Amino acid sequence: MTFYITTPIYYANSLPHLGHLYTMIVADTIARHKRQQGIETFFLTGTDEHGINIERAAERAGRTPKEQADYVVSYFKKMTAAFSLDTDHGGYDMFMRTSEPFHYQGVSELWRRAAQAKTPKGNDAIYKGHYEGWFCAACAAYKTEDEYAKAAVEGAPPTCLIHETPLDRIAEESYFFRLSDYGDALLALYESRPDFVQPETRNNEVTAFVRGGLQDLSVSRLKSSVSWGVPVPDDPNHTMYVWFDALTNYITAIGFGNEERERAVGFEKFWPALHLVGKDILRFHAVYWPAFLMAAGLEQPRAIVAHGMWLDPTGRKMSKTLGNTVDLDVLNRHFSIDAIRYFCLREMVFGQDGRFGYEALIDRTNSDLASGLGNLSSRTLTMIFRYAGGRVPSGVIAEDKLLLAKRTGVDTDETTVSGFVEHARDQFLQYIQAFAFSKALETAWSVVARVDKMISDAKPWELAKDENQKQTLNAVLYRAAETLRWLCVLLYPVMPNATVEIWTQLGLGTLPGASATPAAIDPAKLKWGELAEGTKIGEVKPLFPRIDKTRTMAEISGTAEVNSSVSKVEPATISGSVGVLSAMRAQQKHSGMHATEADAVSGAPRISDTRPRPPMQHASEADVVTRPDGLANFIDITDFTKVDLRVGEVLTAERIPKADKLLRLTVDIGEEKPRQILAGIAQYYEPEQLPGRKIAVVANLKPRKLRGYESQGMLLAASVGDEGKPVIATFTEEVPNGARLK
Ligand code: MSP
Repeated sequence: MTFYITTPIYYANSLPHLGHLYTMIVADTIARHKRQQGIETFFLTGTDEHGINIERAAERAGRTPKEQADYVVSYFKKMTAAFSLDTDHGGYDMFMRTSEPFHYQGVSELWRRAAQAKTPKGNDAIYKGHYEGWFCAACAAYKTEDEYAKAAVEGAPPTCLIHETPLDRIAEESYFFRLSDYGDALLALYESRPDFVQPETRNNEVTAFVRGGLQDLSVSRLKSSVSWGVPVPDDPNHTMYVWFDALTNYITAIGFGNEERERAVGFEKFWPALHLVGKDILRFHAVYWPAFLMAAGLEQPRAIVAHGMWLDPTGRKMSKTLGNTVDLDVLNRHFSIDAIRYFCLREMVFGQDGRFGYEALIDRTNSDLASGLGNLSSRTLTMIFRYAGGRVPSGVIAEDKLLLAKRTGVDTDETTVSGFVEHARDQFLQYIQAFAFSKALETAWSVVARVDKMISDAKPWELAKDENQKQTLNAVLYRAAETLRWLCVLLYPVMPNATVEIWTQLGLGTLPGASATPAAIDPAKLKWGELAEGTKIGEVKPLFPRIDKTRTMAEISGTAEVNSSVSKVEPATISGSVGVLSAMRAQQKHSGMHATEADAVSGAPRISDTRPRPPMQHASEADVVTRPDGLANFIDITDFTKVDLRVGEVLTAERIPKADKLLRLTVDIGEEKPRQILAGIAQYYEPEQLPGRKIAVVANLKPRKLRGYESQGMLLAASVGDEGKPVIATFTEEVPNGARLK
């Protein structure tokens, strides 16, 4: 038996964020759960690299589209490594890229098959026509009337409801996929397979959409409009619609249309897949993709499973413009990977939207992990050390001790607790099967609570005083330890690090054989009592240190402030550390601009990296400067006064030949001679706009040569929007040149 799970492939025009991380965590959890059952599992993720949007992002950053994709991919890979989601950590099996030649081959094959096919109504599945409509580059989709907002000003283009950006009017020759002929076939599919689209609410949504009638889908753009993509077979003037190309990654990755991939993975072996997606892209997966597959005569996916979206703590959509996104660096620095995984799966009711707040994450970590599972584990193991010589004692209470035991109030019938745990296990597995992670974890924590109470009620410290109650005490300890073993196996897919750690502390880590790890034990096959008496407990270490909420919140808000001013870090400093994510973000924000800002930090430790890291991270420490006291990174006034900020007046400004981003300015900051400052603002300011303008200048920045010119300072500018458009800081009142800013 095999199992194949996919995440969406992420657009290669923006950096990884919490939404991507969440999908990865869910997919990783499901994959680990399947592997535990001994099912050969293939977990695919990757990047969606074609289309106008990536072309534009690349252009803005002065890169080729492929360079742009390489750049973003390197950060996706860093993110997945930093959160232990990559192959090295038992996560995804393959990172797919749609720019791979084998993908071109496979997509072309799918197109050819569809192009030769007849629809269920006997028409050509693909035909050539003309399309005119409003197109959103960011969605890479044409928008219908209910999907855009009409412009307030007459004649202006409407705006995309999702991105709030103006749409492009496109009228051009296009190939169409005759989706309108597939409505009945799709409805029949949904009806015959009620779990094809999950959860149920999403199924209803999709069904209603298809019942509403389907329009044919434009599946190509003229190469003159979009050149970065897969050419339409036999008509290279057309580029495939990016969704046709992207969705097909799920089959090309494993070997469709390419023998080498077929041998390496196996379409025959692994297809059909379970596609895990955000509800934002459900329609593409549950309507278009099945129709394409029908046309090509291929088997339908196993299921389309859609999760909800993360919102901020007040329920707003996360967006860079609102500044309410979750910084993955901050997450990685302050929280263990397992705590983040647990929180994501526990807090969000799968399928619905959820709110993500650091405070809630801290609260859950402290209550459920530190005081809950962590405490149960450490108290159980410590008592085994203290009262049973560090070895798992026997759980059996001999006949002649039963009466004595009963007097203490301890339940002498072991099956009461084992029955409870077994029942919880069954429920847990049913919930996982239904993707109800939150409920599954609630169930597991009912076990934690139950066994915690069993210990507290039995008062082992009292029992230990009475030699006659030795067996009673041992029985309590055994039950607690055996429950812990079960919890390790159940919770392994959610918390792969902590459960293996508890496993080791329980003394189980060193047993020979692959089955000796919770990664390879099928929870359905757990049997109560298999924890061997005499097992030697390992060293007991804290699992989930309590988080000091006030301090951490202060540190986080400090980070947030600092992050926004983090400047470009040379790619050479990028290492395996997730700290690079902020560097990258900054780099992307400022890509090709603020050349003088680059001077500000290169070589200096990045402020956002100066915080202690939580345990269980494997990111390289090489580029991290840790503050020994672990305090928030406030700077004091003396630090600030080290920066010599002056009012300057731009005297001249000119472009630099062959450097399309740089302007060369001469600026009077009240010194004998004006300064020469190079600023990466040429794409946003015309040289003529600047002379006479009063600006703020960092005057004591080490001079640096750029394009053969020495830059003797840096001007300050706000960095606005996703592209980091610079807006020069200026003064609205009269100020003399050289006045100090403080
Ligand atoms: N490239 C397309 C997908 C093609 S699949 C053949 C795409 N890419 S994306 O980069 O925009 O990623 C979308 C996916 O990221 C969502 O479906 C979801 O899995 C995840 N998320 C993005 N934002 C999210 C939240 N705010 N919350 C949860 N997940 C979100 O669409």
